[in-house]
Amino acid sequence: MAQLQSTNQFIKPITTKINERGNLEIGGCDVVDLAEKYSTPLYVIDEKTLRSICQDYKNAFKDYEKTSIMYASKALCTSAIAKILDSEGLGFDVVSGGEIYTIYKSGIDMGKVLFNGNNKSVEELDLALDLGVGRISADNFLELALLDEIAKSKNKTVDILLRITPGIECHTHQYIQTGHLDSKFGFDLTQIDEAVDLILTQYDNLKICGLHAHIGSQIFETNIFPDEIEILVKEISRINKEYSLELDEINIGGGIGVKYTDEDEPPSVYDAGKIIIEKLKHCIEKYKINPPRLFLEPGRSIISTSGVTLYTIGSSKQVPKGRKYISVDGGMADNARPSLYQAKYYAQIANSKKDAETEEVTVAGRFCESGDILIENIVLPKTEEGDILCVFNTGAYNYSMASNYNRVGKCAMVLVNNSQSDIIVSRQTLEDLVSHDVIPDRLK
Ligand code: LLP
Repeated sequence: MAQLQSTNQFIKPITTKINERGNLEIGGCDVVDLAEKYSTPLYVIDEKTLRSICQDYKNAFKDYEKTSIMYASKALCTSAIAKILDSEGLGFDVVSGGEIYTIYKSGIDMGKVLFNGNNKSVEELDLALDLGVGRISADNFLELALLDEIAKSKNKTVDILLRITPGIECHTHQYIQTGHLDSKFGFDLTQIDEAVDLILTQYDNLKICGLHAHIGSQIFETNIFPDEIEILVKEISRINKEYSLELDEINIGGGIGVKYTDEDEPPSVYDAGKIIIEKLKHCIEKYKINPPRLFLEPGRSIISTSGVTLYTIGSSKQVPKGRKYISVDGGMADNARPSLYQAKYYAQIANSKKDAETEEVTVAGRFCESGDILIENIVLPKTEEGDILCVFNTGAYNYSMASNYNRVGKCAMVLVNNSQSDIIVSRQTLEDLVSHDVIPDRLK
């Protein structure tokens, strides 16, 4: 049987093509027209690509009925994106009051939300309980105590998972590894019993439903998930026996990678699904537990490929006997990943450049820092001021990590589908930038 591909294995949105004008087209919209209409820098999200990966995930896990796909909102959290993912039947993993509130304001059933984080504040826990967040993944002893106290004051019982550190290292950038032992996240395996004891003997308002782990992000080797599942199921089975419990939820986190450049070879979610389900079924037999509900928390692999960023090319500089820089009107404030993680991206000129000579350039951002480089050494047609550069695979961890560095407003975001384009995040204005400033009377 031919191997099934999934959308996270493509660099570009699935609707990308060159149209009759010779311009790049995404979601049936001419990208040059989008840049003109909405100005640049501009985030563009292709709805078809986004819905396609949701279908991929659902199909990939259809052989394990009790699967819940909880989109990791940290990758990109806006109301319209939440609406789309909700309509596809996904739940939401959130990590802050802001993410909780965004999902809530989008009119989504809060029972489908799972709250993660290593230092949730009292206000955030309070909000989560008031708005009826379905699950809380408890990360540490302080949180257990706080959560029980807050739940008691509201006369509620909270369903929790225990976040554990399984001690697995994956080959990804060290800042985005989370499951290894020396991690700030979760209970060490040796601390689980103390946590369970406390829940059962002292924390009457907490109900433990299962275990949670997350091993890292931008993972290419699916073989790492079976190791994680083995540890989680083994622990669940042990806890069930020792404490006469019936934990029936296992959350294996997110992490499946995407293809930023040709060098990246992320797995198909179909392959990942097969490996995960096989292993889970095997462990259910081996450790004699009832089939638990399986939670997944994919973020990047859901949203990354559907997003591109459009920039307008401005000045350029040929370093004598050195490289050529072309500068764009955005950079590290709308995409921090190259400067933070040395992340690599692929880009294309969106306007027709038929027969133009090519050259190798470095794409520089407009922010006042030498490190603000978006792409090093990429071959592009010879560009001039006003050309539109389309950087691919920027849907995840771009807008969600954007800043106002240099007091530059955050870019707008547009959703495209069937030749239609709609603003889903408006561009920050100069007024927005000063709207939170306060001048004390004594300075007036
Ligand atoms: N679940 C938990 C508990 C997580 O910590 C994360 C990501 C995810 C799920 C989603 O992982 P994903 O499927 O997106 O790989 N800013 C970094 C990525 C940080 C990821 C943090 N945790 C980047 O731009 O690469």
